[in-house]
Amino acid sequence: MINDIKEIIFSEEQIKRRVKELAEQINLDYAGKSPLLIGILKGCFIFFADLVRSIDLKCEIRFILASSYGFSSISTGNVKVGTELDFEIAGRDVILIEDILDSGITLSALRKLLLRNEPESLRICVLLDKPDRRQIPVDADYLGFVCPDEFMVGYGLDYAEGYRNLPYIASLKPEVYS
Ligand code: IMP
Ligand code: MG
Repeated sequence: MINDIKEIIFSEEQIKRRVKELAEQINLDYAGKSPLLIGILKGCFIFFADLVRSIDLKCEIRFILASSYGFSSISTGNVKVGTELDFEIAGRDVILIEDILDSGITLSALRKLLLRNEPESLRICVLLDKPDRRQIPVDADYLGFVCPDEFMVGYGLDYAEGYRNLPYIASLKPEVYS
C-alpha cells in the first residue's frame, strides 16, 4: 500500500489540528442549537467520526450513501444516492459533511434533495476542496484544506475501495490509477 503513495499531502497532525478548528467554529456558529449532522458515506467516515467528537452541541447524526465513481478515478457525473431520506429534516439546521468537493456534482445533487425537504438551514462542511475541478458551483461553508488537483487517498478517501485506512492524506502514484 505504501509503495503506491506518491506524497503525503496532509499529515495526521495537520488533519487533527484542522478538524478541531472546524469543530470549534461549528460549536460557535450553532451555539444554543441542535444541528442535524448528515455524513455522506463512505468517504466521510473517519473525518465525520473525528469531527463529531469535538462538537460540543446536542446533535443528531445521520448518514446518506452516495457515490459517483464506481471503480474509477473520474466522476461518472451520475450520482447514485443509496437511500431515500428515511429521516425528517424539515425545520432542522442541517450540516452536510463530505470528504472532498471535486466537480460539485455529488454535493449539488444532495443539496437539491435536502432542500426539497425544507430544512431550516443547510450548510456544507468538507475536509478537502479541489476548486479548479468544479463543474457545478458549490461552495463549502466549512472547509478543511484546499488540495492539489491530484487523486487523494487516506483518512477515509479511497481509490477502488482501497487506502481508506491510511491515517494521513496522500496523493497516489499516477501509474496506480491510470
Ligand atoms: P464530485 O461529485 O465530483 O464533487 O466528487 C465528490 C466525490 O468524489 C467525493 O465524495 C469523493 O468520494 C470522490 N472524490 C473526488 N475526488 C477524489 C479524490 O481525489 N480521492 C478520492 N475520492 C475523490
Ligand atoms: Mg464520497
